[in-house]
Amino acid sequence: MSVLSGKKILIAITAGIAAYKTASLVRLFIKLDAEVKIIMTPASKDFITPLTLSTLSKNPVHSTFYDTKDENELWNNHVELGLWADYMLVAPASANTLSKMANGTCDNLLLATYLSAKCPVYLAPAMDLDMYIHPSTKENLEKLHAFGNVVIPATSGELASGLVGEGRMAEPEDIVSFIENDILLKLPLKGKKILLTAGPTFEAIDPVRFIGNHSSGKMGFAIAKVAANLGAEVYLISGPSHQQITHSLVHRIDVVSAEEMSNAAHQYYTDVDIAILSAAVADFRPKKIAIQKIKKKVSALEIELMPTKDILASLGKMKKHQFLVGFALETNNELENAKRKLKRKNLDAIVLNSLQDNGAGFATDTNKITFIDKDLNEKSFDLKSKVEVAKDIINEILNKINA
Ligand code: CTP
Repeated sequence: MSVLSGKKILIAITAGIAAYKTASLVRLFIKLDAEVKIIMTPASKDFITPLTLSTLSKNPVHSTFYDTKDENELWNNHVELGLWADYMLVAPASANTLSKMANGTCDNLLLATYLSAKCPVYLAPAMDLDMYIHPSTKENLEKLHAFGNVVIPATSGELASGLVGEGRMAEPEDIVSFIENDILLKLPLKGKKILLTAGPTFEAIDPVRFIGNHSSGKMGFAIAKVAANLGAEVYLISGPSHQQITHSLVHRIDVVSAEEMSNAAHQYYTDVDIAILSAAVADFRPKKIAIQKIKKKVSALEIELMPTKDILASLGKMKKHQFLVGFALETNNELENAKRKLKRKNLDAIVLNSLQDNGAGFATDTNKITFIDKDLNEKSFDLKSKVEVAKDIINEILNKINA
């Protein structure tokens, strides 16, 4: 899955012969499951038609502040467009538009949108070779780079003038992979390894029966996805769960019992930067597992239980460089119990959810948490979808490890 999947891309087209290539650009982004909107300078319409671009992007294309052909003369809101985009790409970026961008000129919809955009902006210059190496163009590109824009260098080759040299807009495929790589490199968890436990564990009684719990694994799987989307390599140790995950950065390790989960967690722990233990691990397991199915001939059955190994406490004891996060699911004295757990298990943070809160806990699609750090600072969040909760948890961890 591409980092651009689900992202909103605003392509801004200026007047240059390379504008014809933007049709391919739009298709490439759409193929990666991105949503594309397009704005153009009026002069760029001489090089490619808005009809082609709106057909490919499945969105209206605007070049002026209002559309004169439209009876209602709807205002094309540049601020809204600028805020809508996750990424803005100016391609081709002509010498004229680059100069205006560098100097804050705002005499068309594209420039007003650029000035309103809060997202990363990529520039793919395209012009003739002498224009590209002119000191004023160079200065404008340097200025735009200093503003935080990312310049996708033009390439060398035959130019529209017939001259050969630097100034050709990078090819659409190269522009897309440039942006993908740039995003990946800047992801906040890039290069970090995360160990995650999720779901329930099943403790066998006999070959057909087990002691389990209601955990669905939804919370842990949501954290895995959010962390991987932010560039982390995730080792997801999952108890029996129906959750699915496909992400090139998530390595799923399926286990059944607490003992198997413990073995896997200890195997990966030394090598990771962050460990988040969200699994609902059984605290007890049958002392003896019957080899044959237990028959119901007896009127009562007693099963002797023994404690399982506390994985989180064990990892807390071994902790070196890792940032260790536990979960606490409580029904009463929630904050006190969670804080005691955090200290007892030598954690860097604990995520508390209370079964007293409606919509929190097992098998729901929502959760309500309080994040407590090792100095016992508490931060409570509203009831949210588990994906949003996962984002809050990862954000809190990032704030702590980057502090
Ligand atoms: N946990 C674990 N291994 C266990 C039991 C729990 O790693 N055998 C982890 C859970 O994944 C969770 C945290 O410990 O992150 C809290 O588990 P919980 O069962 O609530 O804590 P306990 O220490 O068992 O306390 P109690 O059951 O008394 O509330």
